[in-house]
Amino acid sequence: MRMVDIIDKKRNGGELTKEEIQTFVDGVVSGEIPDYQTSAFLMATYFNDMTDAERSELTMAMMKSGDHLDLSSIPGIKVDKHSTGGVGDKTSIPLAPIVAALGIPVPMISGRGLGHTGGTLDKLEAIPGYKVEISEDEFKKQVKDQGLAIVGATGNIAPADKKIYALRDVTDTVDSIPLIASSIMSKKIASGTDALVIDVKTGAGAFMKTLDDSRELAKALVGIGKGVGMNCMAIISDMNQPLGNAIGNALEIKESIDLLKGQAPADITDLVLTLGSHMVVMSGKADDLKTARAMCEKTIEDGSALKKFGDMIEAQGGDRSVIEHPEIMPQAKYKIDLPAKSDGVVSKVEADEMGIAGMLLGGGRQKADDKLDYAVGLMMNKKIGDAVKTGDTLLTIYSNREDVDDIKDMLYKNIEISDSAEPITLIHETVR
Ligand code: URA
Repeated sequence: MRMVDIIDKKRNGGELTKEEIQTFVDGVVSGEIPDYQTSAFLMATYFNDMTDAERSELTMAMMKSGDHLDLSSIPGIKVDKHSTGGVGDKTSIPLAPIVAALGIPVPMISGRGLGHTGGTLDKLEAIPGYKVEISEDEFKKQVKDQGLAIVGATGNIAPADKKIYALRDVTDTVDSIPLIASSIMSKKIASGTDALVIDVKTGAGAFMKTLDDSRELAKALVGIGKGVGMNCMAIISDMNQPLGNAIGNALEIKESIDLLKGQAPADITDLVLTLGSHMVVMSGKADDLKTARAMCEKTIEDGSALKKFGDMIEAQGGDRSVIEHPEIMPQAKYKIDLPAKSDGVVSKVEADEMGIAGMLLGGGRQKADDKLDYAVGLMMNKKIGDAVKTGDTLLTIYSNREDVDDIKDMLYKNIEISDSAEPITLIHETVR
């Protein structure tokens, strides 16, 4: 079977067979299919979508491209969470220790930044020494001993996704329902988790911009999970403006630590507690969401979640003193305030453009092999609904270059100040 014929069929809107999909995935992993053909296939899929059957076949072929972790030696119901990607979305970092502090094993396999969105692994690597790549045995041992681990798709978990994910990032083929669904679910099925909560983002900063598309993605993800017997549900949460105040790797780690100390902005705290409550109910440790939320809150109040975070950092080779001394992470040379040019109420903060600004400062990748600058990013000082006066700081730019006029221009174009603002709904729906 020739790859060019498979590309041709998808380009012309045909439905691929199981064998054709398998040929594509095998060729990607073996390296027989060159990147230019993989990229062409991804673009054809982007434009022509896939049927439910193709989505499931692609997911299963990607899942089977590597190992399937057997976590059965770890007692208890293992629960994971995955986000479809957003700006300022550091949710996983405080969430895993909160849930693990309740005795629920959290085997979390995360990703790197994609497009304008940040990645949990890139953020964790801002912590000196933190290793995101550990062996499968180390991963299992850590989840057993510490109750949690946040790692990259270890060694041989869905190697097809690793290759495809990196190419999607640089070929503008990220925001595609079959490609997102197969990417997430291949890793999650292979990771051996029993239950999964998916945070599907919707809005300007999400890959799915409308509630309808986000709902379709949520249904595709949950459908694939349930199809293989996983206890799986999704929430659809808002991503029109950045989540929390921090955008950028080290800045987001600092905000995650603040959350575990009970000192983070309301939106990110609320989302973490909502996701945590669902995870606790799925684990069987609580019967209802209200009880589960109170349990999660208690781990923040009594410091047990913060301790868990420190234990995880240490187990993965990182310096746990970051909890008390976040300044051990890379620090930006320049902090440049962006003043408001008029009085009014902030009515728009385009999350995707804030993410791109962070990327252009060096916090994200423009090419697959770009090195990241962990120190840079943005700290929002005003968000949608906040009143401002001329000269008030809208946000602070953390930069390692002095001249950020290009960034300032783009930020001004994407933050609107009006007479009033539409209220933001943080959690839109639940999909089961
Ligand atoms: N997260 C993933 O793992 N894959 C995607 O495609 C998007 C978000």
